[in-house]
Amino acid sequence: MTIRARTADPTRYTPNYAWRRAGAPSKIKGQEAIFCEGVELARVADEVGTPAYVYSRASIETAYSGLSRAFGSLPHTICYAVKANPNLSVLRILARKESSFDVVSAGELDRLRRIGVPGERIVFSGVGKTREEIRAALAYRTNGKQRGGIFLFNVESAAELDVLLAEAVRHVAAGGRRPSVAMRVNPDVLAGGHPHISTGHHHHKFGVDWTEARRLYLKHKDSGAISWRGISAHIGSQIVSVTPYRRALARLASYVRDLNRQGIRLDLVDIGGGLGIRYAEESPLVPAAFARALVEIVRPLGCRLLVEPGRSIAGPAGVLLTRVVYVKENRGKAFVIVDAAMNDLIRPVLYGATHAITPAVRDAKASARPNRVNRVDIVGPVCESGDFLARDRDLAPVKPGDLLVVWAAGAYGFAQSSNYNARRRAVEVLVEGRRFHIARRRETYDDLVRGESLR
Ligand code: LLP
Repeated sequence: MTIRARTADPTRYTPNYAWRRAGAPSKIKGQEAIFCEGVELARVADEVGTPAYVYSRASIETAYSGLSRAFGSLPHTICYAVKANPNLSVLRILARKESSFDVVSAGELDRLRRIGVPGERIVFSGVGKTREEIRAALAYRTNGKQRGGIFLFNVESAAELDVLLAEAVRHVAAGGRRPSVAMRVNPDVLAGGHPHISTGHHHHKFGVDWTEARRLYLKHKDSGAISWRGISAHIGSQIVSVTPYRRALARLASYVRDLNRQGIRLDLVDIGGGLGIRYAEESPLVPAAFARALVEIVRPLGCRLLVEPGRSIAGPAGVLLTRVVYVKENRGKAFVIVDAAMNDLIRPVLYGATHAITPAVRDAKASARPNRVNRVDIVGPVCESGDFLARDRDLAPVKPGDLLVVWAAGAYGFAQSSNYNARRRAVEVLVEGRRFHIARRRETYDDLVRGESLR
């Protein structure tokens, strides 16, 4: 079936990616190719192979700066959520912008230590921090000179608080600093793009309800081991409306006032991450509108606002490059089989996510009129029906060897990849202007068996 494409061209809404006249290697008269900053994606694929994740440094920087600027004069701290894309090069770009970071494991903490992020720029969230992880955070140091510890623990249960208290008592007795702590409250607000990434409702595992949080704040009001500094929430991910944020933050604000009346003065309000991006037809919140709504509520409190964006910083900055291996048809249903699979990008099958997919090269005249397209499933080589990047998608006619671009894959793409089917995880490339470098090489088969022993 040949029809006209209706979906918008992702270069129109993805900063730092654009169609330009193709250079070598795909230099064919009348063709144009997608560039990331000054680098042609086809050239990257030729040099490093596929599948390959490519990230734009300029996109990461602009997303961070744009959000920070949007909060204006309100005291605020942006804590990039490391889980979205924990590549060391990505983290270092943000560290150099003076970003703070949100971590959820000792592993993420270790990544920050390796690039020298000081503890005062780290917030530790997560529903199941183990005693070892809490210890690692209390003792966190990047070099001998700094005082140990991190900026803030976001505690998610009474049981976790008990462990933190016990560890903090020992830590303080040994001359360490009292850790700053916030309770993660579940504000009972429904938000987020998909049931698996929505977190702020009372039936989710995250945080504690206000009654419980209040009890804990009061119980440990005069603790010599911890100091209550803040309150936190995270209501979900891929949120495209300001309403749930307003509702959640207004609740947090009323809790801050309540505690104030009880003599507990908090100076940090952490609203978590969740800012959505455009994958296909969504119209995400622009930073200015997002910030305006939050500033309005936080300013009268006199608190510092913490936000923990992951997706909105890293998502639009990255694409996944993949090559067509075969094209086939089963009783009128067309399949494009590519060399990237669910192990490389699990979002489509796990969350029903839609990532725009386009060829990396096109006829220059295509920009003037809609492309001719076929309706296809774009699938990987893994032995599962769930292994697809897109279903019933309109795609320009392609043939084996053609290069495809999977858009907005910079967040939760590589980060959630695996070795399923004994596949090596993809190479990650960072583009900086007209240059690019391998930020993480493709795994080798030796990497895949490392750690295994045959008795
Ligand atoms: N803070 C906390 C405590 C979180 O749990 C998360 C994400 C964030 C911040 C960052 O949220 P973001 O700004 O990226 O929405 N793998 C899923 C998304 C899971 C989000 C988990 N928590 C996906 O691919 O859509």
